[in-house]
Amino acid sequence: MSHPSDYSLPAPSPEAAAHSHALAEFIAGEVAEAGGWIPFSRYMELVLYAPGFGYYTAGARKIGSEGDFVTSPEISPMFARCLAMQAHQVMDRSAREILELGPGTGVLAADLFAELKALGCAPRKYRLLEVSADLRERQRAHIAERHPGDLDRFEWLDGLPAAIDGFVVANEVLDVLPFSLVHRMPGGEILERGVTVTEAGFGWEDTPLADGDLRRRALRILPPGDYEYLTEVNLAAEALVRTVAGSLERGLALFIDYGYAHAEYYHPQRSTGTLRCHYRHRFHSDPFLLPGLQDITAHVDFSAMARAAESAGAEVMGYTTQAHFLISCGLAVLVSEVDPGMTLSRLKATSAVLRLINPQEMGEIFKVLGIARGIAPPFLGFQSARPLSLEPPE
Ligand SMILES: C[S@@+](CC[C@H](N)C(=O)[O-])C[C@H]1O[C@@H](n2cnc3c(N)ncnc32)[C@H](O)[C@@H]1O
Repeated sequence: MSHPSDYSLPAPSPEAAAHSHALAEFIAGEVAEAGGWIPFSRYMELVLYAPGFGYYTAGARKIGSEGDFVTSPEISPMFARCLAMQAHQVMDRSAREILELGPGTGVLAADLFAELKALGCAPRKYRLLEVSADLRERQRAHIAERHPGDLDRFEWLDGLPAAIDGFVVANEVLDVLPFSLVHRMPGGEILERGVTVTEAGFGWEDTPLADGDLRRRALRILPPGDYEYLTEVNLAAEALVRTVAGSLERGLALFIDYGYAHAEYYHPQRSTGTLRCHYRHRFHSDPFLLPGLQDITAHVDFSAMARAAESAGAEVMGYTTQAHFLISCGLAVLVSEVDPGMTLSRLKATSAVLRLINPQEMGEIFKVLGIARGIAPPFLGFQSARPLSLEPPE
């Protein structure tokens, strides 16, 4: 199976192309079994997570300069050092434990642990929840190399713990959970966008959205009017936040991702959604290209995440931009500590940090949502931060 496209992307290796082809055949089989149509959320689940096949479950390089995208902890260790400041403050008032969701290559875990150790506050336990066997291995190897004497403090989990006490962090995890596409047609009919198989490959097909959670949500988020509007709803991400919030007995959980509050996300002018695919540091909006070889994401609706956390009994402690959060955690001080005699490393450190806080890059579009239970503010990262509104709709 292939999909025609005008995008010019680097050609995959023959092995990668064969792998992608096999996954496409597998998905086409499921589409046929389902009667010729599956929801986009199911397509996304399969291309990213089908056992042995999916982008995250199989061996694609994914993160880093040789992969498809880079993330904040990969760009600069200052990201982890700032988070360590926040984690330190939290662990002084809770258990000395960290839970990281979707730890990628393990760089954040290794850097965070190193900084906390240097601050005299090494976590007693550092738990990692990772769905990808391939990334688990990369995490284990990286952490074993960086912290050989403390490896017993790291523990890989198969599911969320029933009770969480300590500091929780999830960087760029919510955006890769399978989301649904809802499509309002001119005239007002609401459809769910799904995937079918055509002679040319996978294709879009919309079907009336039946009553249920997704329709109720669509009715709530779609901007008034009866013009055409296509957008995403991520009920799986909400479920993850709700579960974390429900298990949180004491501590602070940070969800860091690109996204918006409700009013900005579902703005009348954002009428084609935020779906984005990443392949070898290029991005585009065709999820049918190279199934299994590219990441698929969408921005996060942080108002929905906040409501999910509150519905499980946690409290929203802050919502701000990544730039403000990092600066509030002391980023400027940390950067000023880089030895001025080391001109080159200082320059490199500074330019990497600029990517994290520059409004044109990751500083504004990335947000930090903090939810807590059992401990009270202040929280360093939100203290002097410019508060943003989550504007939950009535
Ligand atoms: C975009 S990567 C971000 C990796 C890392 N946090 C970073 O900032 O570099 C998404 C990560 O979330 C993991 N992931 C995806 N779905 C998950 C789930 N349901 N639970 C836990 N981890 C998940 C992926 O395997 C991957 O490690």
